[in-house]
Amino acid sequence: MPAFLSRILSLCVALGFVAGCQTPAPPPAPKGTTTMSSTRTPFGKTADGQEVEAITLINSHGTRAKLITYGAALAEMHVADANRQIADVVLGFDNIAGYELPNNPYFGCTTGRVANRIAKGKFSIDGTEYTLATNNGPNHLHGGKVGFNRKVWAATLFETDNGVGVTFTHTSPDGDEGYPGNLSMEVTYTLTNDNALRIDYKATTDKATPVNLTHHTYFNLAGQGSGDILKHEVTINADSFTAVDDTLIPTGKFTKVLGTPYDFLRPATIGGRIKQIPSDPAKGNPGGYDLNYVLNSQTGQVAHAATVRDPSSGRVMEVWTDEPGIQFYTGNFLDGTLTGKSEKVYKKNFGFCLETQHYPDSVNQPTFPSTILKPGETYTQTCIYKFVAGR
Ligand code: GLA
Repeated sequence: MPAFLSRILSLCVALGFVAGCQTPAPPPAPKGTTTMSSTRTPFGKTADGQEVEAITLINSHGTRAKLITYGAALAEMHVADANRQIADVVLGFDNIAGYELPNNPYFGCTTGRVANRIAKGKFSIDGTEYTLATNNGPNHLHGGKVGFNRKVWAATLFETDNGVGVTFTHTSPDGDEGYPGNLSMEVTYTLTNDNALRIDYKATTDKATPVNLTHHTYFNLAGQGSGDILKHEVTINADSFTAVDDTLIPTGKFTKVLGTPYDFLRPATIGGRIKQIPSDPAKGNPGGYDLNYVLNSQTGQVAHAATVRDPSSGRVMEVWTDEPGIQFYTGNFLDGTLTGKSEKVYKKNFGFCLETQHYPDSVNQPTFPSTILKPGETYTQTCIYKFVAGR
């Protein structure tokens, strides 16, 4: 290499620039020495004039989560890799207009009153039939046309010995999207000093109603918008999944994963067998994973549900929950028509979701764990996304 080129190269290296003299990443905070903080800032107004706020949480390692009051959603999650390089590992938008797009595929949001599908949008409680909005072919999906993902929640910030957090509250009125009862909810996100984003849900009602809340972040552990997630390795602690019909409504049967492309009992890449999953684009089925796993732990205690590892960055994320199921969805409907944060275009399989929840259509399936909440009871759920910078 000519001497002048080699001098430019050494200068780049000395300045900490990466190959190709690109802008270097900001220096990572030294481990465990950042002061925890939580701040709230304006995040614009919805089209109908409601003020939306962003809440930024930073833990003692410098891990940073940004949540927004629209949809009680996770908008950014900045996590270090094994070399202490930081990347934002969740898909989303830079502004409120993005979140309000009619085709926002539930990025980062709190999903409900009932996440996932209810067959034909109908169910009965104590002999009374209820009819919900149908917004997914013949079925009701993720709370209907204006689910909790499209509501502006109130926010209260707090700090504990081991983390910082925000509690979002919202009351869904009796009759909301067809559901019975006034449902009062609290969704608390805590960013802990062991790099976990913990979500605790609570809800109470004044009439019996189904409730099944979940969190709908699309993760990409290599960094949002950096490519597809097909090389990520996944483990899911589930021997079976709920078998479904063509419209993704459970048949009531459980299918064993062993020997099938759905088996993630041992670490396997998402892309390894994804082409074996049936697809039918003409009928709106793009292929890929989109199913509810029946978790092996059914104790109601918080237990390990899944682990995902990105070999390129070494980032690892564990998912823990006390719910009986987890929907594994590989961003099959992303098709390059959405431009997200930092002008990144989100194509098929650019993110994966692990949504801890009760099984789909539980309200119509007598053999599934019940999702009915009655007056005097309190619905609770915990979901933990824990980040580990391993190799
Ligand atoms: C869920 C569903 C998917 C899809 C996405 C949102 O995870 O299971 O079928 O509807 O939400 O696009």
